[in-house]
Order: sequence, then structure tokens, then C-alpha cells
Amino acid sequence: MEYRPSPDAEEVDRWKEVTLVYNSALKEIGTKLEILNDEFQHVHKYNPIEHIKLRLKSSESIVKKLKKRGLESTIENMVEYVNDIAGVRVICSFTSDIYRIAEMIAEQDDLTVLAVKDYFKTPKPSGYKSYHMLVQVPVFLSNRVVDVKVEIQIRTVAMDFWASLEHKIYYKYEGEDAPEHIQKALIQCASMVSNLDQEMLALNEEIQKLLDEG
Ligand code: GTP
Ligand code: MG
Repeated sequence: MEYRPSPDAEEVDRWKEVTLVYNSALKEIGTKLEILNDEFQHVHKYNPIEHIKLRLKSSESIVKKLKKRGLESTIENMVEYVNDIAGVRVICSFTSDIYRIAEMIAEQDDLTVLAVKDYFKTPKPSGYKSYHMLVQVPVFLSNRVVDVKVEIQIRTVAMDFWASLEHKIYYKYEGEDAPEHIQKALIQCASMVSNLDQEMLALNEEIQKLLDEG
């Protein structure tokens, strides 16, 4: 059963219920990722996850997104059409960790992967690189179980650094293009980030080999 807010409650109450349910889904994914990271550390002696950020989309952003798509601001529409109300960002050290983490998530029996967008393999024209998964997680309430959508973004520390700055600029010039020299510089930075990630991965593999040889 997919999540539907109780139809008979007052609008404010329904909004509170929606927030509670999405927040619970976030907590579940957060805990799952921590467990996977701990287990990975136990088996392989290193943490694939650097850190995790959980965030609930603000009501203003939800309304804005619905408006942009020409949809009325109703709770039904947001549940149906806004896939990133609950957002999880998983930051890792090396690009090789991205697919490791994605695989661990996909293998969880109680999670359903609804969609994957691999902007690591195929970056956006902006230079944006990240691995996106839309998953569905069951949330157990007192009298029912509801499936809640959570958007997971997996990226390296360097990609995250780039994305935060790029997002700020995009926000500043919302709807219009940023000055050309800024756009160019950002694309250049994205390519530097890719190179850095590649070099760090190669270096890590070499160091690991040396350590293993003793
Ligand atoms: P949205 O409607 O923006 O959520 O996009 P979408 O449905 O096409 O999904 P997509 O997977 O492309 O993007 C989802 C999220 O990824 C965005 O909300 C951002 O957090 C992030 N993202 C996507 N593209 C970019 C980008 O070019 N730069 C930055 N900084 N973030 C991006
Ligand atoms: Mg989004």
C-alpha cells in the first residue's frame, strides 16, 4: 500500500501526519545506512560512508515544485508527484564506494528501488556528478504499514563540495543563466573534481596494496 494521508483529518493535521511519516522514512534509511557502514567496517576494515545528511523538503519548496509543474498544491499531489520530500545524501571518499553503497541499498529486502539516475556515469551538462536512487521504504504505524518514497543521492566529498557551490549559484540566478565566465569556471571545476577523484582513487589503491603487503 502506498502512503495516503488520512482523508478525514483536518488539513493541518494531515500535513503533520505527512511530515511525521516522511521523517520516519528518513530515520529508517539513516539507520539502515549506519548499520551497513558498521558492518562494512567490521568486514573490510574501512568505512565506505564518510557522512550522511538527512533532510525534509520545506513546504515552500514543495509548493514551488508543484507550481512549476502546473499542479495544484494539495497533499495528494505532493505525495504523488514530489519524489524528494525525504532526501538522503550519502557522502563517500572514493568513486568506487558509490557503487558499493548503491548495491548494499539495492540488496535490502524491505526496500524497493523505484528508479535510478546514474549521473556519475553520465554527468549532467552542468558537470553535475552523483548517483541517484528513488527508493520506497515501509513505515510501520500503529494501525497500518505505508510505503514512503525517499530520494538518495550518493556522491564523493569532492563532488558534494562542487554541487553545494553550483547549487548556490543556480539559486542566485534562478530562471536565468549565470554569467558566462561563472558557468565556464564551474564546468572547469567539475572536470578538476573528476580528475581529483580519479587520482585519489588510484592513490588509495596503491597505498592499500602497500599496506596489504605489510
Ligand atoms: P528535480 O525536479 O530538480 O528534483 O529534478 P529531477 O526530477 O530531474 O531529478 P534529478 O535526479 O535530475 O535531480 C534531483 C536532485 O539532484 C536535485 O533536486 C538536486 O538536489 C540534484 N541535482 C540535479 N542536478 C543538479 C545540478 O546540475 N547541480 C546541482 N548542484 N544539483 C543537482
Ligand atoms: Mg530535487
